[in-house]
Amino acid sequence: MKGDGKMNDNATQIRRVTRSKEAAQATYDKMSKWYDAVSGRFEKKFRDVGLRKLNVKEGETVLEIGFGTGHCIEALARSVGASGKVYGLDISEGMRNITRSRVEKAGLSERVELQLGDAAKLAFEADLFDAVFISFALELFDTPEIPVVLQQCQRVLKRGGRISVVAMSKRGKEDSAMVRLYEWAHTQVPNYADCRPIYVRQALEEAGFQIMDATELSLWSVPVEVVVAKKP
Ligand SMILES: C[S@@+](CC[C@H](N)C(=O)[O-])C[C@H]1O[C@@H](n2cnc3c(N)ncnc32)[C@H](O)[C@@H]1O
Repeated sequence: MKGDGKMNDNATQIRRVTRSKEAAQATYDKMSKWYDAVSGRFEKKFRDVGLRKLNVKEGETVLEIGFGTGHCIEALARSVGASGKVYGLDISEGMRNITRSRVEKAGLSERVELQLGDAAKLAFEADLFDAVFISFALELFDTPEIPVVLQQCQRVLKRGGRISVVAMSKRGKEDSAMVRLYEWAHTQVPNYADCRPIYVRQALEEAGFQIMDATELSLWSVPVEVVVAKKP
């Protein structure tokens, strides 16, 4: 992947993640109460595209990594119906509490299981899921961990299973001023400007996925990609 140190061109390198998992957990615990009021509403339209493209059907078993305040867990639970199951994995207990009460209020608890943990160590059995959803979370993992997370997604997906990734993306040498500003903020306050643009399609291909669909969007002039791929 670009950013692994082999390429010298600074514009093409993705930024490293310097904060610890404990710091990530503490930050998201703190942010969980006001996350929806600040970031959540800007991200909704991108999440919705990712969910639509993943096209989850009744009876499917689905995993969401980094589910945050749980809007997509709720949507996925409605899509799988009473015969399906949705698993969520997030590192933050605060996020899990908010998602749990959202799911309870919606009367969907029976089809949802929310786990706490680090997605770099996916503890699910192989070939379990029909689909995996990741929205604004893959770009939180440090560069060497992105392939680890995606290879584990491969492992837990059934053959032919789909993955939908919504993430800030880099699009080659021509970074916009906003991308440069964002990357600067990421290096200055890594606990808060924690996402940084990554090469989504390339990361999925390198993990052995076949790209099915890619949509390029933009959030405050920072490119966002929604990429759907399948396990061959
Ligand atoms: C930027 S939020 C996105 C939340 C949600 N997916 C959305 O689109 O609104 C990132 C989420 O990933 C979770 N997260 C961060 N690092 C993680 C890790 N190593 N393993 C699992 N979840 C993680 C955070 O706790 C947070 O809920």
